[in-house]
Amino acid sequence: MDLNLTGKTALVFGASQGIGKAIAESLIKEGVKVAICSRTESTLNETKDKIGAEFALSGDLTKPNEARRVTEEVIKHFGKLDILVTNTGGPAKNNFPDVTTEQWQTDFQSIWLSVTESLQAALPKMAENNYGRVLMVTSIAALEPLPGLTTSNGLRAGLSGLARSISNEYAANGITLNLLLPGYTATDRLKGLNLSEEKIKEMVPAGRLGDPSELADMATFLASEKGAYITAQSIAVDGGVLKGH
Ligand SMILES: NC(=O)c1ccc[n+]([C@@H]2O[C@H](COP(=O)([O-])OP(=O)(O)OC[C@H]3O[C@@H](n4cnc5c(N)ncnc54)[C@H](OP(=O)(O)O)[C@@H]3O)[C@@H](O)[C@H]2O)c1
Repeated sequence: MDLNLTGKTALVFGASQGIGKAIAESLIKEGVKVAICSRTESTLNETKDKIGAEFALSGDLTKPNEARRVTEEVIKHFGKLDILVTNTGGPAKNNFPDVTTEQWQTDFQSIWLSVTESLQAALPKMAENNYGRVLMVTSIAALEPLPGLTTSNGLRAGLSGLARSISNEYAANGITLNLLLPGYTATDRLKGLNLSEEKIKEMVPAGRLGDPSELADMATFLASEKGAYITAQSIAVDGGVLKGH
C-alpha cells in the first residue's frame, strides 16, 4: 500500500524515546520530514541523528506556551505542518486524596493545555493547505481508569471530548483528529510504574506487552491520505484489553 506521505511534514512531541520516538521513526521511513521535541537536549539530539529527523527542538510541556512556541517554530521552518502528534511524559502515580492543586495544574498544563496550545498554532495552517492529521497519544485510561493514575484518568478522558468537538469544526477542511490509546507498551514509562510484567501478561488477552512500533504504524496509516475518512476516533492499541467502548 502506498501511503503517499513523501514530502509531508510532521511535529512529534515527547519523541526522544518510547512511543513518540517510534512514531517519528515510522513517519520518517515513509518519507515524512519530521521535527521532534522533548526536554533533555542530549537525548533529543542523539535520537534526531539516530532516526534521521529533520530537526529537534527542546521544550518542556509542563510550562505554559511551550507547545505553542515549538509548533510555531516548526511551521516557520517547514513553511507548513501536515501532521501533529501530541504526546508527553506520563504523570506521577496518585490517588485522588493525595493530589494537590499544584499537581492538577502541572498535569493539566502538560496533558491538556499543551495540546490546545499546539492546535491553536497548527490548525489555521493546516486549514489553509486543506490537509491536516492530528494524532493525540493518550492512554487506555481515557476509557477505562487505571488504578493509582487519577490525573491521567481524568484529564485524558477530556481530550477525547476535545478531539470530537474540534473534528466537527475542521473535517470539511481536510483535517482529521484521532486519539491513539496505548495499552501496556514496552517503554521506560512502563518500567517506571513498577508493575509486575507477569501480571500484565495475564491481564492482556494477547499475553504480551505491546511494542511501540505497533502503535507507531497505526499512527502513520492515520497520518496518510488513506486515513482521510477516519476522524474523531479513539483507537486503542492494547492487545485486547479494552472491549465494548
Ligand atoms: N508505555 C505505556 O505502557 C503507556 C500506556 C498508556 C499510556 N502511555 C502514555 O503514553 C505517553 C508516552 O509514553 P512512553 O511510554 O513513550 O513514555 P516514555 O518512554 O517515558 O517517553 C516520554 C517522552 O516524552 C518526553 N517528555 C517527558 N516529559 C516531557 C515534558 N514535560 N515536556 C516535553 N517532553 C516530555 C520524554 O523526554 P524528556 O524526559 O527528555 O523530556 C520522552 O521523550 C505517556 O503520556 C504515557 O503516560 C504509555
